[in-house]
Amino acid sequence: MSQLKNDLLLRTLRGEQTERVPVWMMRQAGRYLPEYRVLREKYGFFERCQTPELACEITLQPVDIVGVDAAILFSDILVVPQAMGLEVQLVESKGPWLPAPIQQESDMARIQVPDVKDNLHYVFDAIRLIKQELNGRVPLIGFAGAPWTLLCYMVQGKGSKTFDEAKAFCYTQPELAHRLLQMITDTTIAYLKEQIAAGADTVQLFDSWGGLLSPADFETFSLQYMRQIVAAVKDLAPIIVFAKGAWFAMEEMAATGAHGLGIDWCLEPARARAFAKKPVTLQGNFDPARLMSPIPVIKKEVTRMLEAFGGTRHIANLGHGILPNIPVDHARAFVDTVKAWTPHYQTA
Ligand code: CP3
Repeated sequence: MSQLKNDLLLRTLRGEQTERVPVWMMRQAGRYLPEYRVLREKYGFFERCQTPELACEITLQPVDIVGVDAAILFSDILVVPQAMGLEVQLVESKGPWLPAPIQQESDMARIQVPDVKDNLHYVFDAIRLIKQELNGRVPLIGFAGAPWTLLCYMVQGKGSKTFDEAKAFCYTQPELAHRLLQMITDTTIAYLKEQIAAGADTVQLFDSWGGLLSPADFETFSLQYMRQIVAAVKDLAPIIVFAKGAWFAMEEMAATGAHGLGIDWCLEPARARAFAKKPVTLQGNFDPARLMSPIPVIKKEVTRMLEAFGGTRHIANLGHGILPNIPVDHARAFVDTVKAWTPHYQTA
């Protein structure tokens, strides 16, 4: 299957013991890289996403500059609401902005389950180009937002710490919320299948706001939809589920059959494994703000993280996206420390 020169990530997702722990960073293509900022000056955000040559160049930057073991497609989770018919803007220093969000029944007439091949063809074109340019150096990760997290933006219309308007929508108009979640789910399944067909070696589902829900509401408004997505995709390519803050649902998420589960820095690896109840590859969980520490401290803390995971069934990553103000040599120190580390049982 793999003409990949480095398939550590894929083997780790399949549960195999590898010679070392693979490493990549969420949001690894982003503002902390000067080379990214140059392109950001010249082109708008969605222009970068929609131009395969630009998306390709940006995707490859962290592979070349920091030496990660995987590339992740440069795009955004919000291209899906866009393809469904909503206007999405990215406002400088404010983040995502949807001028006309979904708030009542009549708003549903403005969205549909699109033909992804038509509406998101630029993503698949980018994937084909990236695969060609990577030339097997490392695997390519595709991704999508989880239905709950996309609903948050589609209803609230912007970022939020609590997403209380999105919750109010779910709790006052549950029938409508479920219709919307199912439409997002159907779109996402088609979208991820097409990413895999275009060449993505694995895919990640980002449920960034899963941890805002109670365990019961997480089951109702998030997990039952992620379960459908995992079931539809998992036999086509390995899938990683990252539901930030949803430590209470490790067992249920492991039971979906996902190959990997992302965890943040608030959950200890040993607890994550105990909660999962079955062997699953864990991804994480370095506090992104910890990359502000001096390099010797980063090395010590990364080593501590690696030891806590134990060197098996672990993909080293941050517990959320890298911050824009992290010095590049600090990001490199993170990656290099993982690459240099050997589990005790291999040295013994
Ligand atoms: O990880 C990667 O390197 C791949 C690219 C990627 C982006 N967004 C690029 C991006 C991925 C995987 C995402 C996912 C995403 N987008 C999530 C889930 C992960 C998470 O961080 O929780 C969410 C919630 C979004 C929505 C979104 N897009 C927000 C909240 C923002 C603004 C915040 C910010 O960091 O500026 C974006 C914009 C965005 N997406 C940027 C990048 C590189 C910054 C754009 C810029 O200013 O150039």
